[in-house]
Amino acid sequence: MNTVDQAIKLVRNWRRHQAVIHPRTARFLYHWMRGSTTLPYPPLKLHLEPTSVCNLRCPMCPQAIDAVKGDTGYINVDLYKKIVDEAKDFALEINLFFRGEPLLHKQMSEILRYGRDNRVRLHVNTNATILREQQSRMLIEDGASKVTISFDGPDKEHYEKMRKGAKYERTLENVRGFLSLVAEYRRNGWPTPYTVMQVILPYDPESPGPNVPDHMKAIFEGLPVDEWDPLWPHGWAGVMQENGTIQAQPYGENYHPCNWLWKSLAIYWDGRVASCCADFSGDQVIGDVKTQSLREIWNGPGMVKLRTMQVEGRQKDAPLCSGCDAVWQKDSTAWSAFSAIESRIRPADMPVGKRKDGAPRPGEIVLSPVAADVGVEGQAALAAAANGYMPNGKPVRPIMDQPPVTTALN
Ligand SMILES: C[S@@+](CC[C@H](N)C(=O)[O-])C[C@H]1O[C@@H](n2cnc3c(N)ncnc32)[C@H](O)[C@@H]1O
Ligand code: SF4
Repeated sequence: MNTVDQAIKLVRNWRRHQAVIHPRTARFLYHWMRGSTTLPYPPLKLHLEPTSVCNLRCPMCPQAIDAVKGDTGYINVDLYKKIVDEAKDFALEINLFFRGEPLLHKQMSEILRYGRDNRVRLHVNTNATILREQQSRMLIEDGASKVTISFDGPDKEHYEKMRKGAKYERTLENVRGFLSLVAEYRRNGWPTPYTVMQVILPYDPESPGPNVPDHMKAIFEGLPVDEWDPLWPHGWAGVMQENGTIQAQPYGENYHPCNWLWKSLAIYWDGRVASCCADFSGDQVIGDVKTQSLREIWNGPGMVKLRTMQVEGRQKDAPLCSGCDAVWQKDSTAWSAFSAIESRIRPADMPVGKRKDGAPRPGEIVLSPVAADVGVEGQAALAAAANGYMPNGKPVRPIMDQPPVTTALN
């Protein structure tokens, strides 16, 4: 790569990384490490789902076990605009996806254009199964700032096992078509989205990390993939930790509060707000943008209570956080370097690092300490509640101090 190409790449990547390398990030890092529970800044980013509907049932995704439990719908564009009107003043990026496939929303073009016209950075994650020419042009022309393509495609066999319901050749054609268009727009000097190819690979305990094989990269030789993002599956807060088909990464040994609660909110299609984008079942609903502002929800009782639980090491008292791998870090150079800095910032009594009670084992349903007092029947109810449902099949929500949100599941 010559110097000019390198400079162009740096500028293009800078557009992408601006949302991450931002003065506000330092503030977030400080308050997260310090364990502040009420925050003097609004959320840095949002997950906002155009729809919870998905056309696939990937075995590593909670959609495969119908974790959305019939809560399917498409966001009303007026509600979306109301959210953008507030979020445009502070969100460094809106992730236009959460539980479903965003391209299934028929008004996606209007959704993108409204965000772009309000100067909001929009990131679309898509399985690319319906990414034909029209949708590709829409993503490019209507203002997606970043497009991540979920294409677990070193080969047909792996792809079709991971993306249940999709056809390898068809998706490959879509992805190549999209990237070819991006290349064409770039040649003509148009602004185009930053492109990421996300590849979920089988967990391999022998390997230091996931790697995209060269033969997969070769398929896209000459096409503008700005970033390759190989991943091992995570367990979606314990929901998919062990599901018979896909092995999620195991939990680490070192406890630390999860940074998502200090930087982000997740919004369902109907306006309910969850504390985290792993919450497919609505276990930790903490507000509703139809009746509350995002700023209000961000420092509302639900969010403050969840942060407090994590800071005090009581994450097991929250149904979703109780099984989450994000709070259990593996021993590594990165963890050592992080904890060296963090130990200078956090209060001395914050229970981080190796914990006597240990990380949950794969597949274990973690009951809160009160479970011990409620007997076998009570424990069964709590275990069911950890999955968002009571034994009678009724959804459980929300667990926080707030009155139940009226727009509950049908
Ligand atoms: C829930 S999907 C929604 C967006 C869209 N349907 C898609 O697949 O790109 C959001 C992201 O989660 C990723 N994902 C699903 N299951 C995962 C797992 N167990 N570990 C890591 N990422 C996962 C998907 O590949 C996708 O990039
Ligand atoms: S990973 Fe995406 S495409 Fe696959 S089932 Fe989940 S939401 Fe659908």
